[in-house]
This record gives sequence, C-alpha cells and structure tokens, in this order.
Amino acid sequence: MSQSYNRGLVEDFGRWREFSAGMWAWVFHKFTGWVLVGYLFTHIAVLSTALSGPAAYTGTIRTLEGLLVVRVLEVGLLAVAVFHILNGCRLLLVDLGVGLERQDVSFYASLILTGAIVVASVPTFLAGVSL
Ligand code: HEM
Repeated sequence: MSQSYNRGLVEDFGRWREFSAGMWAWVFHKFTGWVLVGYLFTHIAVLSTALSGPAAYTGTIRTLEGLLVVRVLEVGLLAVAVFHILNGCRLLLVDLGVGLERQDVSFYASLILTGAIVVASVPTFLAGVSL
C-alpha cells in the first residue's frame, strides 16, 4: 500500500520513495551547480583569447555572438544560473530554519520565477543574431 506524504513538511520533503518535489529540487540544484562549474572553464577559454590581442578577442566574441546556437546556449545558461541562485538562497533560508514547513511552495516559486525571468530575457538574447 502506498503511503502518502506531506511534501510541505521538512520530514517528508526529502523522501525518495516517489518522485517528490524535494528530489527534483536536489537533482536540479546539483545539475545546475555542476553546469555552472563547466561553464566557468568555457568562460575562461573564451576570455583567454584576449591574450592574443584585442583584435583576436573582438573577433572571437563577434563570431560567437553571431551564432544562433550560442545565443540559445546563453538563454540556457541564464536559466541554470537563475535557478541555482534562487534555489540556493531558498536552501540557505531553509538551513537557517526559515520556511521549513513550506519547502515545496518555495521550490515551485523558484521554478516559476526562473521561467518568468528566462522568458523575459529571450528577446534580448536573440536580438541581432544572424539566422
Ligand atoms: C548566488 C549564487 C549561489 C548561491 C546562493 C549558491 C548556493 C548553493 C548552495 C546553498 C548549495 C548547497 C546545496 C545543498 O545543500 O546541497 C550549492 C551547491 C553547489 N553550488 Fe552553488 N550557489 C551559488 C553559485 C554557484 C556558482 C557560481 C557555482 C559554480 C561556479 C556553484 C556551484 C555549485 C555546485 C557544483 C554545488 C553542488 C555541490 C555538491 O555536489 O554538493 N554555485 N550552491
């Protein structure tokens, strides 16, 4: 017989027996954290083209920013960063004992706010890209 849990309670939020909000929050946080670490290497690789001089750096940035795939990846990076920051702040509050009983609500709020910010950013990211 399947047992029902109250996902808003700290005792039940992290249970793994079913696909719970707490499990997704954990998976998304780890995933986004490690994607950010991966991006750091990409970021340093792109910045290091400046060692070959201003023209080389400008050329690299112009080429990358002209590619649709790069713009789409940038939207994805924003999504990953915004979610990690919002959910990370939520986790820090939880660590301080704030909102323990409403963890599912605060997780869904992080997701919705991330979605709204990402959707609002799309016109800016796609502006001027050559299709
Ligand atoms: C304002 C910005 C950020 C906040 C508030 C934040 C918050 C947090 C918190 C609270 C955790 C621990 C989650 C847990 O208890 O399991 C965490 C994990 C992590 N963060 Fe961040 N973080 C931020 C930025 C970053 C950045 C910029 C990176 C990468 C460059 C990053 C990479 C990671 C990784 C890889 C983990 C998971 C570590 C593990 O596997 O246990 N975070 N973050």
